[in-house]
Amino acid sequence: MSDRQFLNFIGGAWVEGSGGDPIPSLNPADARQIHGYATNSGADDVAAAVAAAEEALASWRATPAPVRGRICRDAARLLEERAEEYGRILTLEEGKLFAEAAGEVQKGATLVEWFSGEARRMNGETVPSEIPNTFAYTTRVPVGVVGLITPWNFPLAIPAWKIAPALVAGNTVVIKGAEQTPWTTECVIRAFVEAGVPAGVLNLVQGGPTAGKAVVEHPAIEAISFTGSTEVGHAIYARGAALGKRVQCELGGKNPLILLADGDVDMAVAAAAKGGFGSTGQRCTATSRAIVERSVLEEFVEKLAAAAAAVVPGDGMRPEVTMGPSVDADQHGKVLEYLQVGRDEGVEVVCGGSRATGEGLDHGYFTQPTVFLANRDHRVAREEIFGPVISVVAVDSFDEAIDVANAVEYGLTSSLYTRDVNKVFQYADRVETGMLHVNSPTIGGEAQLPFGGMKKTGVGPREMGTQAIDFFTEWKTVYVDYGGGMRGGNLY
Ligand code: UN1
Repeated sequence: MSDRQFLNFIGGAWVEGSGGDPIPSLNPADARQIHGYATNSGADDVAAAVAAAEEALASWRATPAPVRGRICRDAARLLEERAEEYGRILTLEEGKLFAEAAGEVQKGATLVEWFSGEARRMNGETVPSEIPNTFAYTTRVPVGVVGLITPWNFPLAIPAWKIAPALVAGNTVVIKGAEQTPWTTECVIRAFVEAGVPAGVLNLVQGGPTAGKAVVEHPAIEAISFTGSTEVGHAIYARGAALGKRVQCELGGKNPLILLADGDVDMAVAAAAKGGFGSTGQRCTATSRAIVERSVLEEFVEKLAAAAAAVVPGDGMRPEVTMGPSVDADQHGKVLEYLQVGRDEGVEVVCGGSRATGEGLDHGYFTQPTVFLANRDHRVAREEIFGPVISVVAVDSFDEAIDVANAVEYGLTSSLYTRDVNKVFQYADRVETGMLHVNSPTIGGEAQLPFGGMKKTGVGPREMGTQAIDFFTEWKTVYVDYGGGMRGGNLY
């Protein structure tokens, strides 16, 4: 037991919240280990954070964008230098493998570094006016105070990739990190603060749904960027709309990997195993469906089952372990419930299907990597599980594969394994996902490319890439008459 305390960061000071019982940060690989407690926040703490952010706004927006970018560049460097330290904390708190965690810190650093360069490209446009002697141009201005609400599954990278574009664009920030991962959220804030983000520009409130709700409700927060569950995201979207706020949500997925008869089965198996069991399936980009042409079905399923059998669940800090636990008891319960749903609706359990037990596993939230042979209508083939579960669906043609791929509410990412170049482009036209991969896994996303999904998965502009700046800026359109061009206004 540790007496570590994870505090709020408001107006440049670490302070306690007033939101009730502290929240334990524990090790999901062994829930008896408590790393410390996070302060809990209520509406008053959020109001204090917003007040600090409002006060800091004028001078931060007046700070030249390239100077803001340079501070983010230094934050990126600190994250990179601390990949091992922060990676370890991430594993202890979220449960993913240390290699995955250190990779996540590096990814966060890369994203922040990229956005720091965007600070020098916050361009508008000059546009010809139809009025004589008139100069017309557009320019970007910050939105104001923005609220960020981030999930536990990428507790370092997602805060980093929302904070960086928000700051580079000149906004001030109130962030509420996930209650399961307060220590990791604190690490991200420390990197930005030590890099020189001035007091009040970046504020953290620790806590759960009460604090999150207060962020959404606060009248001075102009925009909310949320990553998390579809249910919560849609509620935030509705509430944000009612309050006239801009809302960006990145929500669930049920991402398919399609393997056609001519595709490379071994590559597809490796991609499905990495995409499905990597990060314990707790990834919105996880491969949770494999849609396979019948002639290669048997080979694919056999090899995927072998890959599942080779997985070693356990504590992510141990080098021999290849898959960590679910993040907490609730999430683990949800995964186990879906395993039961699958059995109840009559899917074939190819391998796995239950809680993982054995030496060193009894106090953690472990699940056997699971492969189901399902059909397109089964719930386990349509609903997001967020655990190490892949539902394989057999199809008889490319057209049927695309139909099945699109037959879910979500549209985040997908993969196609084939050697047929025509099918590649047909797939790119027809699949209903915001990102798609050809002969590569469904997971991941690069800083300089837009990240996000279609249908129930996404609301608002994409994250990452130049598009990310759109969410965090307002456009201004400016007309300047420099010589009596049209006295009394425009042409019409
Ligand atoms: C990735 O696949 O590398 O919540 C990133 C998530 C996504 C991030 C996935 N927003 O899982």
